Amino acid sequence: MKRNNMSAKGGSASGGSKIIMANWKMNLSISQSQSFIKKIKKNKNTVAVAAPFTFLTQLTKIASAKGVKLAAQNVSQYEPGAFTGEIAAKMIKETGCSYCLVGHSERRVYFKETDQVINQKLHQLLANKIKPVLCFGENAIERKKGLTKKVIARQLKQGLQDVKDPSKLIIAYEPIWAISTFQKGKIKQSAEIQDIIDAHEYTRKVLASMYKRKAAQIKILYGGSVKPANSQEILSLKQVDGALVGGASLKVSSFNAIIQSI
Ligand code: PGA
Repeated sequence: MKRNNMSAKGGSASGGSKIIMANWKMNLSISQSQSFIKKIKKNKNTVAVAAPFTFLTQLTKIASAKGVKLAAQNVSQYEPGAFTGEIAAKMIKETGCSYCLVGHSERRVYFKETDQVINQKLHQLLANKIKPVLCFGENAIERKKGLTKKVIARQLKQGLQDVKDPSKLIIAYEPIWAISTFQKGKIKQSAEIQDIIDAHEYTRKVLASMYKRKAAQIKILYGGSVKPANSQEILSLKQVDGALVGGASLKVSSFNAIIQSI
């Protein structure tokens, strides 16, 4: 790897510390999540956990005592009203959440969320002062066909349609083929370092075409089989402003190792 891809002292291209975010998905129990947060070993990086909705109010105090931020994993595209089973951004805000994932590939693939729905959700979050973490990335077939850049550009442009102020956003490049739960084998492959650099540089270019100089403020996280064995190499890249961690965030020892790796 070229030396100039490594960031000085773990800083990021967009400035400031890195963001390490756990994505617990539909795992753990409330009591497990509480003892997990108590055991988090924080450092200068921003640390966040994306927890199931029902955990959120139970975690507020413990998380704030630890300096850990909370994130929701999904939000309704609608304002509060007659939408049985949905959770509005306004309700998430009441739990004290700082962030909310939107457009995660599991939502796109299993729940058929389109870029248009994802864009509506993102606007609901912004209107309620919750920082959206927009996830995007190509699948294995698109990658094989050489469509990675096209997919990235489409998902960013449509997902961020009518978003005027990019300073309120985080985005996470998560190539679907590198996400552990979409992989069949036992050994979970992250993207190669060069794939990550290329995709993040291209993402920054697309953002620059949309937001000019303001694009530099947007944090771009990487997600896809980040684990203690590769986190230092990935998080040291100046193109990478942090990590969204799924499988390896379910054990506090491995999540702490990732936090401490940078
Ligand atoms: P993974 O998941 O780290 O298990 O690949 C990442 C994600 O789905 O956000």
